[in-house]
Amino acid sequence: MIERSADLQLFIDAAFAVFDRQVEDLNGRRSILEIFGLLEHKGVEKHGTGSRLPVCEWLPEALALKVDDPLLQHMLGRFEALEPRLKWRRRSKYDDTASENFVDGHANAVIVGPGGLEDRDDVWLGVTLMAPGVRYPDHNHAPEETYLVLSDGEFRQGDSAWFAPGKGGTFYNLPNIKHAMRSLNTPLFAFWALCA
Ligand SMILES: [Fe+2]
Repeated sequence: MIERSADLQLFIDAAFAVFDRQVEDLNGRRSILEIFGLLEHKGVEKHGTGSRLPVCEWLPEALALKVDDPLLQHMLGRFEALEPRLKWRRRSKYDDTASENFVDGHANAVIVGPGGLEDRDDVWLGVTLMAPGVRYPDHNHAPEETYLVLSDGEFRQGDSAWFAPGKGGTFYNLPNIKHAMRSLNTPLFAFWALCA
């Protein structure tokens, strides 16, 4: 265990700048201000190297944002510096709402939060990567959640129609609302921030 590294602090700062600029929903704004406020209290960071999964072959394409937005580019650069130390994991729970290629077509990494690089239980800041043509299963959880989407791809809340926030788009999930995402012809790459 080590104190929070400069790399992680720089990523958190870069992520806050983007969430703060992009999130307009009032609940989302309240939530992210609370989350990044909590993150001013530094946790302890794990040693060691991360581990990747097959879907991580899509990471270079996901990180090549192809959008002229210095703030988003900066956040992705800070993420790229940190990524070799993240443990990418599969979601263990899924049902028949997931596509057949889901298991090897997705991965999640917790940057800060339970089981994350900075292991703590008051907030979650993490990321999902999906290969093209993958449907993530319907799921829900008690903490409210704000997504920051950095790719194409579609999302759904409750039984709403699928919507595409676009690169830099954000949306807020109420506690326990059912939600899902699906990639189209390109990888889907999205960050999420949760707070109990
Ligand atoms: Fe979620």
